[in-house]
Amino acid sequence: MDSVKEYLTQNKDRFLEELFQLLKMPSISADSAFSQDVINTAQLIADFLRAAGCDNVEICETQGYPIVYGDKIIDPSLPTVLVYGHYDVQPPDPLDLWDSPPFEPTIKSTPLHPDGAIFARGASDDKGQLFMHIKAVEFMISQKRLPCNVKFMIEGEEEVGSVSLSSFVKENHQKLANDIILISDTGMIANDIPSITTGLRGLSYVEVEVTGPNRDLHSGLYGGAVANPINVLTKMIASLHDENNYITIPGFYDRVEELSEKEREEMGKAPFSLKEYKEALDIDAIYGEQSYTTNERNSIRPSLDVNGIWGGYTGEGAKTVIPSKAYAKISMRLVPHQDWEEITQLFSNHFERIAPRGVRVTVTPHHGGQSYVTPINSVGYQAASKAYEATFGKTPIPKRNGGSIPIVPLFEEELGSKSILMGFGLDSNAIHSPNEHLAVWNFFKGIETIPYFYKYYSELKAS
Ligand code: BES
Ligand code: MN
Ligand code: MN
Repeated sequence: MDSVKEYLTQNKDRFLEELFQLLKMPSISADSAFSQDVINTAQLIADFLRAAGCDNVEICETQGYPIVYGDKIIDPSLPTVLVYGHYDVQPPDPLDLWDSPPFEPTIKSTPLHPDGAIFARGASDDKGQLFMHIKAVEFMISQKRLPCNVKFMIEGEEEVGSVSLSSFVKENHQKLANDIILISDTGMIANDIPSITTGLRGLSYVEVEVTGPNRDLHSGLYGGAVANPINVLTKMIASLHDENNYITIPGFYDRVEELSEKEREEMGKAPFSLKEYKEALDIDAIYGEQSYTTNERNSIRPSLDVNGIWGGYTGEGAKTVIPSKAYAKISMRLVPHQDWEEITQLFSNHFERIAPRGVRVTVTPHHGGQSYVTPINSVGYQAASKAYEATFGKTPIPKRNGGSIPIVPLFEEELGSKSILMGFGLDSNAIHSPNEHLAVWNFFKGIETIPYFYKYYSELKAS
């Protein structure tokens, strides 16, 4: 398909300009101060879908942010690919750590990407990647090379738990009927080591509150004589891991899928340099569950992390105070067979049980989702694998990923179809962090690769 390369050369500048337009929108779903921007972004996505040649483009209103739908049905008897992506982004904080403003996209060269990377919030997660699909479909429609039907479903609440999309999917089985779901919202091992994500971890996210005395107290008058909620909270949190870094919540590991030695050996073949890993993060040692490798710890093993902790006085100077309350946000990443609602319950029971007398503890569940795995012998995986082979010149490595896209297992449950996770980002893209970026090379490589998926998928389905 030389024509895709040609099309890219002819439209390179326009594609980047359009992507910049999208990246300039501060579509931060977590912060209601940006709600109008999120809504405007949905509008822009709809415009792009129309311009790409999609029919039935619709902004579907929900209780939350709209879902943008669009399709191109060339022949109902042919297979249908459903493309999913999200136009919302994470908050850009801390702003002062960005080298350029998060919503003023700019191309800069980096040591890893001397030919340039696009710096902006959402460049990789997920605007840059979902835009690859819009452009790939534009190419196929305009060149009359679309070999099957395509539907788009782009949401604006992924970063806050996809609440509206869950109901939307449950209520629109017919509209969303498809043979395969295609998603670019993950990454690859490296640009010269393409990989396809075959698993995502589940998630349970909770907030805890520890209450001690009914008011903040003078730490001299009361210090040592009453429970300090921060002291207690940190002690409770510390007890959630044992000396080998196993999680101590009773029942937590009961359903964890144990992989066979053979499977672990197979996974261990994925290229990985511990030295580079440590260098990239500027750490002198790795840390984690005993008896597992780094790649296992962040993919096939569950984890528990404090995401934020606060309470007491954190302003300038010193204030001698025992706070009345202390708080923390805690996430648990889950693996196959662990049920996120059950884990949330186990956490709550345990955390309330280990609270010492003198404080009260409340646990508030936020959101969660199940883990996901996809087999590599399916038609969808094979088509994706051949697509990468065509444009990267190498067979991609299947790899389970540690991140979560909770809506993916729900798609399978509700729509009965598997998702193919064709990510074109890199772990070094700093998603959710300051200076998020996507290499220009990856952006165009994605657009180049996607049409091959359609080609091979249609061919394999027909054979
Ligand atoms: N695209 C990410 C998930 C991801 C990134 C998976 C890279 C694998 C590789 C997604 O936008 C995300 O950030 N998910 C959240 C969960 C959500 C419920 C907020 C996550 O993983 O923290
Ligand atoms: Mn994402
Ligand atoms: Mn994200």
